[in-house]
Amino acid sequence: MSVLAQDFDPADGDIIRAEGIGKSFGQLQVLDNISLSVRPGEILALLGASGCGKSTLLNILSGLLAPDRGEVVIQGQPSGQFDHWEKVAYLFQEDRLLPWRNVQQNVNFGLENSPLSVAERRERVEDALRLVGLHDFRQSWPHQLSGGMRSRVALARSLVVEPEILLMDEPFSKLDPQTRSVMHDELLRIQQLKGVTVVMVTHDVEEAVVLADRVVLLKPHPGRIHRIIDIALSRPRIPTERAVSEQSRLLRLEV
Ligand SMILES: Nc1ncnc2c1ncn2[C@@H]1O[C@H](COP(=O)(O)OP(=O)(O)OP(=O)(O)O)[C@@H](O)[C@H]1O
Ligand SMILES: [Mg+2]
Repeated sequence: MSVLAQDFDPADGDIIRAEGIGKSFGQLQVLDNISLSVRPGEILALLGASGCGKSTLLNILSGLLAPDRGEVVIQGQPSGQFDHWEKVAYLFQEDRLLPWRNVQQNVNFGLENSPLSVAERRERVEDALRLVGLHDFRQSWPHQLSGGMRSRVALARSLVVEPEILLMDEPFSKLDPQTRSVMHDELLRIQQLKGVTVVMVTHDVEEAVVLADRVVLLKPHPGRIHRIIDIALSRPRIPTERAVSEQSRLLRLEV
């Protein structure tokens, strides 16, 4: 996979930079003066209580939503001028699988606007399905899959574009704890293999501690950054291990 946009040198620093972001919906001020940077190859978690503006912030970072104030710079380009959106994948909270398409057709959907040939697309889809361990289920239909398998299809559909930046909005929040933990391991394995930069929203403290290199802790009314915390624990991080549970406990006190 090509690692970064041609005119972006990771040595230059941040892959995404948000400066002074403000956003209101009508009278409701949702985000106030948010400034943060995302480093190439890191996993950054946006953590905060429900309604504090996490999804709004992720939508702004993804270019789906324009801020009222401030600026987002992606790979050195202001987001309004950024012309490599194919390098950015967005994994929504719901899996958004198309019920009338089988697994491989759903994954191929991620490539529908791509200039790749049919053979190249087929190869990409096969690779993505292998990566998430679903190659044997490529002909299955969404209704035949478990929740964890559906999450994997959604993840494969994001990965099939070979993104450099993966934005995730609580993609595992509907899974049972055991399946969620399996998906955490999968995500970490794939992230290390591909070197993709991940920005993920969560309101689950333990998920943030298990996955993230840094946690951006947001406070509500309006949403603003309370603190940015380095999670300097070695991996794998087992939630029941003392250092991990202690970090979670400390963080939980602040959320
Ligand atoms: N398009 C919109 N129009 C009006 N208000 C909105 C819109 N999107 C979000 N809001 C409001 O902005 C606030 C923040 O919403 P947001 O979805 O960003 O929160 P969140 O932190 O992601 O919450 P959750 O953890 O529940 O997903 C909420 O009060 C919500 O009602
Ligand atoms: Mg949300």
